This record gives sequence, structure tokens and C-alpha cells, in this order.
Amino acid sequence: MRIRMRRLRRTELLREAVAETRVHAAQLVQPHFVIEDPRGEEPIASMPGVSRFGVDKLVARVGKDLELGLASVLLFGLYSKKDARGTSATEPDNVVSRAVARLRREFGSRLTIMTDVCLCASMDHGHCGVLQDGKVLNDESLPILSAMALSHARAGADVVAPSDMLDGRVAAIRDALDGAGFTDTALLSYSTKFASGFYGPFRDAADSAPKSGDRRAYQMDPRNGREAVRESVLDEGEGADLLMVKPALAYLDVIRGVREATSVPLAAYNVSGEYSMVKAAAKNGWIDEGRVVKEILTSIVRAGADLVITYHGSEALEKRWL
Ligand code: PBG
Repeated sequence: MRIRMRRLRRTELLREAVAETRVHAAQLVQPHFVIEDPRGEEPIASMPGVSRFGVDKLVARVGKDLELGLASVLLFGLYSKKDARGTSATEPDNVVSRAVARLRREFGSRLTIMTDVCLCASMDHGHCGVLQDGKVLNDESLPILSAMALSHARAGADVVAPSDMLDGRVAAIRDALDGAGFTDTALLSYSTKFASGFYGPFRDAADSAPKSGDRRAYQMDPRNGREAVRESVLDEGEGADLLMVKPALAYLDVIRGVREATSVPLAAYNVSGEYSMVKAAAKNGWIDEGRVVKEILTSIVRAGADLVITYHGSEALEKRWL
């Protein structure tokens, strides 16, 4: 036996030297749920370790994360007033825009602020666009999404991230941003987003579950790999600066497929259900949490993601799991 693969596995130093994939803090994005009461803090039962924060609490938390090298956030708003046009998400002093402005004031350019752009949490019916006779209207919803994105850009967001999966929203939002002079605000498209059971805990966290029906008439069918690549390539053509595959773990093949089809930077969203399964198993002593989190985040990067949006971010850095 001339070839012995084990030679380079012999010592920790050799293994470290030949490691092909490393996950760095700069690649991680921490999602946050923002509530209207500035001093509020509400633990989310289905996502152990994650809380909804009012802006004062958010500032404290982000300050700590910055010390760990975690310098990107993705903000989701919770709205006490919901209606059929998602008005709370587009008015100028909406909860997300207020949080963006405050974070910008506190941290300046040390923090990358991304915002989720979607109407489900501000709609009384919980769907991601205007609803008529049980159907989400596509083109009628685009101006509302554009207004929401614009309000985040005005407040100082670096990146706006539409997650609705309606057709043509990347072009519509890009035009709205450019038309208002926000040519430097980047657009991260949730370009390939599947209709997934893994969003369960998130809908509880963001109070955004559809009251009737489901999202399969706009989010993607998990069975389709070719269509998955096409969705992302189309958004690149509409002007997206960054693309995304979501969820991550059941779709590592799709991450690889999109990576190979385009040179645009790619994010993957390690979603709520993926997080909560790890937390539940760890709580029961069934898995070694740190080891599993490292393995999961590494696999997502190895598959081809440049950025990883993950609820594990700050704990993984704090406990040196990576
Ligand atoms: C909003 C949105 C969802 C997620 C991100 N943005 C939920 C959904 O589409 O129902 C899920 C994130 C997660 O599960 O962590 N459309």
C-alpha cells in the first residue's frame, strides 16, 4: 500500500493544515425578531435560546455579538396591527425601520444591517402578498413590497432581502430603490425558497403563519432541482446582488447547483426548524451540540454558500464551536 490516506489524518496540526473548508465569523448572519416595545424581551418557546427583542434589548445583544466578530444581522418585524395591505410594514416609522435607524446610530459602519422584506407578518391573513379569493395577487403586491424595501433603505439598511417568492419583485424593488436614489443599497434575493415544513418555529416566532391554505402557490416545490437553479439565475438577471437557497440542509445539492450556475455571492438560510431540531436533540443529551453545529455550518459552506444565515451564530462563536 503506497497510498495511505491516514498519513495526513495522524495529528491535529496536519488535519488542520489540509482542511478544505473553514467557517469564519465574517460569513455568519444572525437573524433577529424585533418587537414594538423598546424594552421588551420575549423568549420563543419553539426556538430555545432565541428571543424577540425590543430595540433597546436588540442594541445590547448586537453590541455583544460584535465583540465576538459577528457583524451582520437580518431583521424581521412583528406587527401588533395587521390588515389586508400590510400597512404597518410600510409606514415610515415601522418597527423595522426604527430598529435599523437606531442600530445605525449606535454602531455606524461596524455593523451590516440586512432586513427581511415580506408582508406575511403584517397581513391579517398571513400570506406574503395581497389576497383575493384565496389567491395571492402577484403584480398588485409588488408596489407594497417596494415601499417596504424603500422604507428600510431610507432608515439606513445595507441590504434588503425580499422573501415573498412573487415573480418580478427583484426588478421592481431595484427600480424603486434606484428611482429614489438608493443605488448603493444591496439586494439579497431569497431567490430559491422552498415551501418547507422547516419554517414551523419561525412562523410561531414571527406570528406569520397563513390563516388559511399554504404557500405552495408561490414558494417552490421541494421536488424540483432544475427549477431551483432557474429561480436563482432569473433573480441574478433582475439585478440581485446576492442570491439565497432556503432552507439549507435538505437542499445542499441545490446550493451546489446554484453555486455552479452563477458567480453571484450565495447565501444559505439554516432555518428555524433546522435550529430547533438540534436544540431539542441536544437538550435530551442525544447529540453533542457544538460538534453537530460545526458539522452543519461546515457542510453548508462546503456545498458552496458564501454566507450562512443561522440562529446558532452567536452561541457558536461564544462557545468556540467553530
Ligand atoms: C417570510 C419568511 C419566512 C422565513 C423567512 N422569511 C417564513 C415563511 O416563508 O413562511 C423562514 C425563516 C426560518 O424558518 O427560520 N416569508
